Amino acid sequence: MESNYDKWADVYDLVYSYVKDDIGFFVKESKLCSGEILELGSGTGRITLPIAIAGCKITGIDFSSKMVALATQKASCVLPNSRNLTFLQKDMRDFDLQKKFSRIFIPFRGFQSLLSVEDQASTLKAIKKHLEPDGKLIFSVFVPDILMIAEGYIPLSHFRDVKDPITGETVSLWHEGQIDTYNQIMHIRLSGKSTYKKHKIIKDFDREFEIRYSFRWEIFHLLNRYGFKVEEIFGDFSSSPYDQDSTEMIWVAKAPIDC
Ligand SMILES: C[S@@+](CC[C@H](N)C(=O)[O-])C[C@H]1O[C@@H](n2cnc3c(N)ncnc32)[C@H](O)[C@@H]1O
Repeated sequence: MESNYDKWADVYDLVYSYVKDDIGFFVKESKLCSGEILELGSGTGRITLPIAIAGCKITGIDFSSKMVALATQKASCVLPNSRNLTFLQKDMRDFDLQKKFSRIFIPFRGFQSLLSVEDQASTLKAIKKHLEPDGKLIFSVFVPDILMIAEGYIPLSHFRDVKDPITGETVSLWHEGQIDTYNQIMHIRLSGKSTYKKHKIIKDFDREFEIRYSFRWEIFHLLNRYGFKVEEIFGDFSSSPYDQDSTEMIWVAKAPIDC
């Protein structure tokens, strides 16, 4: 069955070419541990590949066959025949890899792709089974913007311009969306339009996604409920402590107790 994220595979690296500051953070965390790493929702390998290139052993799982195919193809170019890198098509809500990992990462909104508390809970249960006793779960989510939520929608507006990493063309990104405050879900439509080159539009696309926002204490209690102990909450990828001005929450948790 085609997943919604299959439709994103061809434009993902272009749209998110501006997201860079988390790569160094996850590479550094990977180098600090001696065991294997698992990334949930590995997408096109944006984080997975630099970790493998840094010499760490990592498995990336994603439920989108197109994302897995693209990540595998990129890996065959930059790290041919590498034993450090495996991509598998799996659902993070229900997987069994028959091994344990020293670190489990869910970078860049992957945790927010889980749209219900049930999905979050089943993912945390699967993670717990795959973490070594001293292992760590690390994931990043955005801090919900209360003013935007109060508006209930995101008006059609210019999001940013990005440079196509392959062609170098500038692509203008626009977004708009609705916010379902009852279910804490944002429905976003993102459009990309290239600037004209010789009077010809070279890129023009529309993609949609849904993302769940969660608040600090909600995540804290969710992690506790499923047997995780929160070690740190960073407010950015330089590992600054989370505070009232943070726009990012980076959660670091261990799963020491059995429950
Ligand atoms: C926002 S992207 C992040 C990709 C990558 N980790 C990065 O940092 O660029 C979220 C990814 O999670 C995947 N995903 C969403 N729900 C999933 C699930 N239930 N199981 C596995 N992968 C999932 C999507 O297919 C998508 O590739």
